[in-house]
Amino acid sequence: MRSPQNVVVLTGSGVSAESGVATFRDQDGVWAKYDYREVATPQGFAANPELVHAFYNDRRRALPGVRPNAAHEALASLERKLAEQGGRLTLVTQNVDDLHERAGSENILHMHGELKKSICAHCGDVRVCDDDLATTLRCTVCGRTGGMRPYVVWFGEIPRFMDEAMDAILSADLFVSIGTSGSVYPAAGFAGEARLAGVPAMELNLEPSENAHVFSDSRYGPATQVVPAWVEEVSAKG
Ligand code: APR
Repeated sequence: MRSPQNVVVLTGSGVSAESGVATFRDQDGVWAKYDYREVATPQGFAANPELVHAFYNDRRRALPGVRPNAAHEALASLERKLAEQGGRLTLVTQNVDDLHERAGSENILHMHGELKKSICAHCGDVRVCDDDLATTLRCTVCGRTGGMRPYVVWFGEIPRFMDEAMDAILSADLFVSIGTSGSVYPAAGFAGEARLAGVPAMELNLEPSENAHVFSDSRYGPATQVVPAWVEEVSAKG
């Protein structure tokens, strides 16, 4: 069988786990230590912006200390290979880290935003942000203070790039979900949408996710092993 030419990959925090970035719902995950309502909702930000800034500032500061792993690198190499063959890999990620970019992936949709960007809640200006955010910062575009927030999609907010992600999935030859528990929608619904459109859907995860039954194929194990092995398999067919 010929290898797929148009692939959509959805990644979650499991792809970055072996780089040292915490997942959310595993035993030692982020939501075992923090109440998501306090740090990842618009209501939490309104109630205690200092706490929310501290939470995301810590995560942004940790990025230079972590490196892309073999799974990020394999996905970047598959993107290059498909492009050489006239195909396309669209990487839809729920992750706010920058490890896919640093591994060399280019066609990335950050549906839950990016740690290394800020957005002004007053005027919507989005810009690269390498430093800490604080309530005292002034927006350089509209001049107002108090509105600077992480460019991260919180619970209750609408994920970004949904039209682009759905268009890519519905016209793909293969949808692959990697390192996500399948518990947060709309991302958790992508595999079902793919299957309804006749697109095969594969899961690569440490263990079966909550919607494992939706997938037509699966490989279980650490991302640094199963992702490079799958990429090699696909590349050998091409
Ligand atoms: N390799 C592969 N998969 C792994 C690994 C690993 N080394 N370690 C953990 N996993 C898997 C877990 O088995 C789990 O299924 O990664 C998944 C992580 O699931 P979650 O912690 O729920 O993270 P995620 O799916 O990315 O969460 C989605 O929830 O809170 C929000 O906005 C946050 O983007 C996040 C969204």
